[in-house]
Amino acid sequence: MAADSHRTAIDTIEQIVQDENIDCDFTRLDGYLFLHADGTHKELVEERDAAHRAGLTDVELLPHSGTTGFDTGECLRWPNQGQFHILKYLAGLTEAIVLQGGRICTHTHVSEVHGGASARVVTEDGAEAKARRAIVVATNTPFNDRVVMHTKQHPYRTYVVGARVPKGSVTKALYWDMADPYHYVRLQEVATGPRGGQTGYDLLIVGGEDHKTGQADDPAARLRCLEEWTRDRFPMVKDFEYRWSGQVMEPTDGLGYAGRNPLDADNVFIITGDSGHGMTHGTLGPLIVSDLINERDNPWAKLYDPGRITLKRESAQEYIKENVNVAMEYTDLLTGGDVSSVDDIPNGSGAVMRRGITKVAVYKDEQGTTHECSAICPHLHCVVHWNGLEKSWDCPCHGSRFTALGELLNGPANTGLAPA
Ligand code: FES
Repeated sequence: MAADSHRTAIDTIEQIVQDENIDCDFTRLDGYLFLHADGTHKELVEERDAAHRAGLTDVELLPHSGTTGFDTGECLRWPNQGQFHILKYLAGLTEAIVLQGGRICTHTHVSEVHGGASARVVTEDGAEAKARRAIVVATNTPFNDRVVMHTKQHPYRTYVVGARVPKGSVTKALYWDMADPYHYVRLQEVATGPRGGQTGYDLLIVGGEDHKTGQADDPAARLRCLEEWTRDRFPMVKDFEYRWSGQVMEPTDGLGYAGRNPLDADNVFIITGDSGHGMTHGTLGPLIVSDLINERDNPWAKLYDPGRITLKRESAQEYIKENVNVAMEYTDLLTGGDVSSVDDIPNGSGAVMRRGITKVAVYKDEQGTTHECSAICPHLHCVVHWNGLEKSWDCPCHGSRFTALGELLNGPANTGLAPA
């Protein structure tokens, strides 16, 4: 069912692109799963057999991918995958929604969600929007669910680098390996150079080096590893033009969540736990949730039910491991700070300092002025950590993030860091 649902999601995206005439470089292409340095032939055989059991009988084991510019070695070929330019797609989708009478309110912070007979959301400035049927919270991680969902999924930070390569020098395909954390590779054609009028090129995008959010602050080392990994495999790469990181929510049993919010009214729905499948889940979740709202049967509703309890041994172990990891983060409330004096914080950087019985998040801006706010996350009170690459405060427990000045970037917290 998982395989079937993802295949349907890709078909649905393709259909929407055609129906709405969205110019977003949608392409059908092959995916190649290849071994990491210590990987074995047996792992690929097991993976292929699992794919076949799931009904993906066209997945095949190959001695090498036969692609240009990158020799994967022994690999699995997954035919008929999809790739598109996400922002172009979203721009087209937005236009279609508005044309069909939908209304999109940006820069509108919802602070309360109320389900039931008079379902409504209340914004930060007190305005209310009433829902006749249902409310769907699809905010990467749900801010309306305080505890339950945050024991079932966990935030990870992933790093990405981008390098220019000559057009056509690497076959456009999806590539990813079996390392843990795994590496992923994509290619995006760029029609012209940055100032226009130059010859086009391809952008090689490589990601990996994931770690739990807020539990490492060595971004330079991680980006360096990613660049080395890329240079070893793609000798045509000269310089890296882009470096960034993002956050994904990893469900403990490996599948996302789309359906009723547990312990909430029947007409409040969530879509979350997307792992690295944000685009397919972002399509699949609404297919499930719209059927539930309209009281239609949906073949995948039970599989993706946010209230599910997965008793499989590996999932239960993962659940325990991740939640023990969260519990350990609370010991941070008792330890000293990262530094004992603001003098030890370089300009443009931040550090957590102990202040009596609590901790403060101190950011020193480029001019050397310090800005302080509480280091205690307003969600469930873990201590935030400085993220030197994104210049943000990240919560290691459930992934809330705040700007250097303490403003809310993403939930599950629903307010910024309190004043120091
Ligand atoms: S995100 Fe839950 S305590 Fe910070």
